Amino acid sequence: MSYQARFRVWRGDEAGGELTDYEVEVNEGEVVLDIVHRLQATQTPDLAVRWNCKAGKCGSCSAEVNGRPRLMCMTRMSTFSPEETVTITPMRTFPVIKDLVTDVSFNYEKAREIPSFQPPEGVAAGEYRMAQEDVQRSQEFRKCIECFLCQNTCHVVRDHEENKAAFAGPRFLMRQAELEMHPLDARKRRAEEAQEEHGLGYCNITKCCTEVCPEHIHITDNALIPLKERAVDRKYDPLVWLGSKIRRRTG
Ligand code: SF4
Ligand code: SF4
Ligand code: FES
Repeated sequence: MSYQARFRVWRGDEAGGELTDYEVEVNEGEVVLDIVHRLQATQTPDLAVRWNCKAGKCGSCSAEVNGRPRLMCMTRMSTFSPEETVTITPMRTFPVIKDLVTDVSFNYEKAREIPSFQPPEGVAAGEYRMAQEDVQRSQEFRKCIECFLCQNTCHVVRDHEENKAAFAGPRFLMRQAELEMHPLDARKRRAEEAQEEHGLGYCNITKCCTEVCPEHIHITDNALIPLKERAVDRKYDPLVWLGSKIRRRTG
C-alpha cells in the first residue's frame, strides 16, 4: 500500500531555521529514513542528514520524530497513521550544523575525559582471567552504538547549557560504571571520580535516558544507580573511612 504523507522537516543552520512542510510518498515497510532519502531524491537535494548503516548499528541517524528522540532508520512509518503529520527535527541538545545534522563533539570531549582501562600490574596480556558473570555485566554496556540519544534526552543538559562543562552524561557515566565493575581495572576510584569530576550527582535517576536507548541498555538501573551506591558506600563505610585516614597519616 502506498500513500502520500505530510512531513514537517526542520530546515536551517546555526543562524536559525524553521519547519517546512512536504508531501512525500510512503510505501509499505518503509522507515522514516527512507522518506528523508526520497525527499532528498525528489524535492530537496540539499537537505542535510547523517546516516550510514540503515540497520540501527552505526548510531548516526539520531533525530527527533514527533518530539521523541529516535533512530530514523529504526522508526517504521507504520508507527504513524497515514493522516498524521510526521515532524522531524534535529537533536535538541547539540548545536545544529545544517538541517537534521548536529555537532555532537560534546560527546567526544566527554569520552576523552575518562581515563581508559588500566591493566593490572604483574599480569601479562593474554593472561587476564575474569568470571563469566563479570564479562556478562559489561557486555550489556558494550552494546552501546554511540547514537547519543541518551545524552540528548537527559534533562541535566537538554535545557541547561551551563551544566555541560560539569556533566559527562549517561553514556559516559555508564562507561565509568563499566570500568568500576571491571575486576581487573587497576584504577580504584572510578565511582568517586564519577561523583567528583564527571557530575554523577546531577543525575536524579529519572530513567529518561534508558527509555530512549535503541539498544535497550538498562543505563539507570544497571550502571548509574550501582555507581552511585558504590560512591556512597565507600564514602560512608566506617572501615573505608578509617583506612583512608590511616593511609593519609602514613602517606
Ligand atoms: S537517569 Fe540520570 S542520566 Fe538518565 S536521563 Fe535521568 S538524570 Fe539523566
Ligand atoms: S547508551 Fe543507548 S542511547 Fe546512549 S549512546 Fe549508547 S546506544 Fe545510544
Ligand atoms: S543509519 Fe546507522 S543507526 Fe541509523
